[in-house]
Amino acid sequence: MGKQTMTLTNNITGDSYTYDILQSTRGPSVVDLRTFFRDTGMFTFDPGYTSTASCESKITFIDGAKGELRYRGIPIEKLALEHSYMETCYLLLNSRLPKDRELRDFDLEIRHRAYLHTGLCQLYDAFPDNAHPMATLSAAVTALSTFYNDHIEMNREEEYLEMAHRIISKIPTIAAFAYRHSLGIPFIQPDIALGFTENFLTMLRAYPGGKMRIGPYGEEKIKEIEIKALDTIFTLHADHEQNASTTVVRGVASTGAHPYVAISAGISALWGRAHGGANESVIAQLEYIGSVDRVDDFIKRVKDPNDDFRLMGFGHRVYKNFDPRAKILKKLQDQLKEELDLDSELMAVASRIEEIALNDEYFISRNLYPNIDFYSGIILTALKIPKSMFTPIFVIGRTVGWITQWIEFKKDRASKIARPRQLYTGD
Ligand code: CMC
Repeated sequence: MGKQTMTLTNNITGDSYTYDILQSTRGPSVVDLRTFFRDTGMFTFDPGYTSTASCESKITFIDGAKGELRYRGIPIEKLALEHSYMETCYLLLNSRLPKDRELRDFDLEIRHRAYLHTGLCQLYDAFPDNAHPMATLSAAVTALSTFYNDHIEMNREEEYLEMAHRIISKIPTIAAFAYRHSLGIPFIQPDIALGFTENFLTMLRAYPGGKMRIGPYGEEKIKEIEIKALDTIFTLHADHEQNASTTVVRGVASTGAHPYVAISAGISALWGRAHGGANESVIAQLEYIGSVDRVDDFIKRVKDPNDDFRLMGFGHRVYKNFDPRAKILKKLQDQLKEELDLDSELMAVASRIEEIALNDEYFISRNLYPNIDFYSGIILTALKIPKSMFTPIFVIGRTVGWITQWIEFKKDRASKIARPRQLYTGD
């Protein structure tokens, strides 16, 4: 197929301008408007970027109409069912799944890099006990950049990978410490004998000395099914193309700042309720509703045009069909029902909301389906993870995506500083 173009005509002056249409390998094509201002003296206007492709990328693909998500071309369903989070990290960073030996080496390196400098550990003491772990996490990741000045100027592939492995490996430790600090209890150091996900659960749950809670039947060790469930949650969160926090990470990357500061900015962007903070809000909302008989009144409030109230865990800018990650989590939730202590009252309230929303004109006409955050909270609750750690869990999973996007941005010779313009309507 020859070059395709689009011609725009200014209906006042009659001038016409022709722009190339760039072909994608999947999904919509893109009109290349990079010379639009130079050609016309006008800007394009797209607040919230609803029609804007902000970059070219080879990492993640979403088809929102079909409800499809792929990392490096591989469907999310395949990754969630057949591969681990460590394999997914390797895939995102290296554009292919690892061979056995490569996975072993990668996994070992991630285990060994999980420790934090003692100076960084002392930073936590400066924060109040009731600090939200997301705030502490963002601050600690910025502080991490002070220990690795050499990550600003990188040219070789090994340098990029070392920088990426370091942050992927340390993020669970930083998050677990943020949580333990919020409770005022001593930190549990990482254990190189444990894999990524089990290590995180241990750092979160263990008592000083490394022992787990003692129940009526002895020590309550972490179950294999718990590790698998959390590992799947990490995989489902690993990347999501140009979402709000990734756009922030790329924006900071565009100024030439340290990569860990860019990740810290991404963490801050993720915290909001419209984005990653929704998982905490979903459970808070379910707890607030409390019982199935209160759901109808609650839905009335959501639909009231004079009320800003939103149903948390519903709707998505890109998915106008079921979020494929939500489908996987819903199945996982059903499997776990038999084996873990899922909160039946919360589940009943959630099921009723889901049933109403999927059949109600308000939600159908606006294509509002449950998203990943609607289901993750119930599973995380069953894993004994407190609400305040739900968004940090999202951070742990997403760090690999952010850093992969950061590297792609840096290597793209067409990258420029992010500097949009405005429609000025002031005095
Ligand atoms: N509850 C009730 N109404 C909603 C909701 C909701 N959760 N989401 C959107 N709407 C309505 C909205 O009021 C608007 O209605 P109208 O046309 O009458 O004005 C219409 O749907 C379109 O909404 P929008 O705000 O223009 O859509 P958007 O694409 O800009 O926003 C969203 C996407 C995710 C911010 C939004 O759906 C939302 O706030 N959802 C709740 C928070 C949430 O679950 N966020 C997690 C997203 S998935 C994980 C992640 O990306 O982090």
